[in-house]
Order: sequence, then C-alpha cells, then structure tokens
Amino acid sequence: MSTFSARPTARGSLGSKVEDTFRFLPGNTRRIYDLVAEIYPLSTMLFHSDAHKVALSLAGVADGMRVLEVTTGSGEMFRRLLRSNPNGMTCGVDISPNMAARTQRVARRRIPGVEAHCQAVDARRMPFGDGAFDAVVCCYLLELLGEEDIVHTLAEMRRVLRPNGRLALVLIGQQDPAFNVWYRFIGSIAPAFLGRQVETRIPEMMEACEFELEHDRQVRQTLYPSRVVVAKR
Ligand SMILES: C[S@@+](CC[C@H](N)C(=O)[O-])C[C@H]1O[C@@H](n2cnc3c(N)ncnc32)[C@H](O)[C@@H]1O
Repeated sequence: MSTFSARPTARGSLGSKVEDTFRFLPGNTRRIYDLVAEIYPLSTMLFHSDAHKVALSLAGVADGMRVLEVTTGSGEMFRRLLRSNPNGMTCGVDISPNMAARTQRVARRRIPGVEAHCQAVDARRMPFGDGAFDAVVCCYLLELLGEEDIVHTLAEMRRVLRPNGRLALVLIGQQDPAFNVWYRFIGSIAPAFLGRQVETRIPEMMEACEFELEHDRQVRQTLYPSRVVVAKR
C-alpha cells in the first residue's frame, strides 16, 4: 500500500530540509535554463539520448496520435517524437521561454510540415483540456520540483491523458551509490539547475495518482544512470 497521498502534503517526505529548498526554486530554474538553452544539447547528447530512445520505444507513440512532451529542454526528444508521429499532433511545454522557442524553431526547420506546437508553460498547471493527449512523455523534470509539486504535476499529466493513455517518465537513476554521492554534492551547489534524485519514490507516487505501472528500465550512458518508467492511465 502506498504511503503517498495523491493530495499534496504540507511538508515533503523526501527529506524535509532539502525539500524546503525545492519549494521555492521554479523561478530560478526558469532563469538558469533560459541562459543555457543554446548549449544544453551537449548535455542531452552525452547523458540523456539513450534513455530518450528507451522511453520512446516503450511509450506506445504511434503515427497519428496527440502527443505531449512535458519539459522539452532544447528539443532532442521532441524531434524524436515528431519523427514517430509525422501525421499526428505533437505539443511541447517548458517553463523556460528560450527552451520552448529553441525547440519550436529547430523542429520547424529540421522537420517541416509536421504539426508541432511548443509553448512556455509551467508543467504544474497546463493549458490543455482533460484527456487531450494519447501519450505524455516527461524526461528529467521531477528532480527539479518540490514534493508537493511532483504530486500536482503527476496529477496534471494524468488529467491531460485520455483513459488508457500512457505516461513515460525518465528520471535520474539512483542505482549507483558513488554517482549518488557525487550528484548530492553538485546538486547542493546548483539545486535549481540539477535538482536532487527522487527516482526511488516516483513509482509509488505514480500509483498513488492512479497510474498503472507497465515498464521499468534502467539505462546508463557516459556513467550517468537513468530510469525509465512507463504507466497507463
Ligand atoms: C534537466 S532539463 C531536461 C530537459 C529535457 N527534458 C531532456 O530530457 O533533456 C529540465 C527541463 O525542465 C524544465 N522545467 C523545470 N521546471 C519546470 C516546470 N515547472 N514546468 C515546465 N518545465 C520545467 C527546464 O526549463 C528544463 O528545460
């Protein structure tokens, strides 16, 4: 039985001192990602692209679908989604206007003629109707949110998914103790940019939000661990 409530709690249970920091970060996160938008593709290439491929293979995305990527970053996964869904509609949101604008610009240039819409939107409150999407993909966002916001955002992703639609999440893995020590250290220097690892708690939180877990994979790229979790609404 889950220990998480689908309703936000007053204090985080992921570690309360660290959690207090994360409750006030979104504005800083937006400013930092705005600054790094043009160089961010390097980080995706080195650390994230293998996990993106695994998430895409498990997310059940097929041509003709309505697909949403929550937090496009600089748009690498967004372009993979567009290539898998050339006759459908693919939307992307990111809290950073520069990230959203870059994703839209590069997608339109490299993959012309597809229906691609990116906006600067906070994932905690998205401007889409209930059940508007067949699939939702979200990579490396939850690490940047406070626990209450993780719960709100999972509930928001569930709201915009149609019944039986799939959510594919990519998280920073916690399977390597040495990496965890290092990440805790660098994360404490730049929490608004790097966040903190939350992976081990997320499947439980997804179940508390009434997602049905379907796939759970670990991926490692350039020593960087990721976990891909796919669930059905
Ligand atoms: C670690 S990057 C991951 C980018 C991309 N998803 C990837 O896989 O490479 C985190 C992204 O989340 C965005 N972000 C952070 N908080 C957000 C929020 N509350 N709503 C929407 N996007 C957010 C940041 O602007 C940044 O682009």
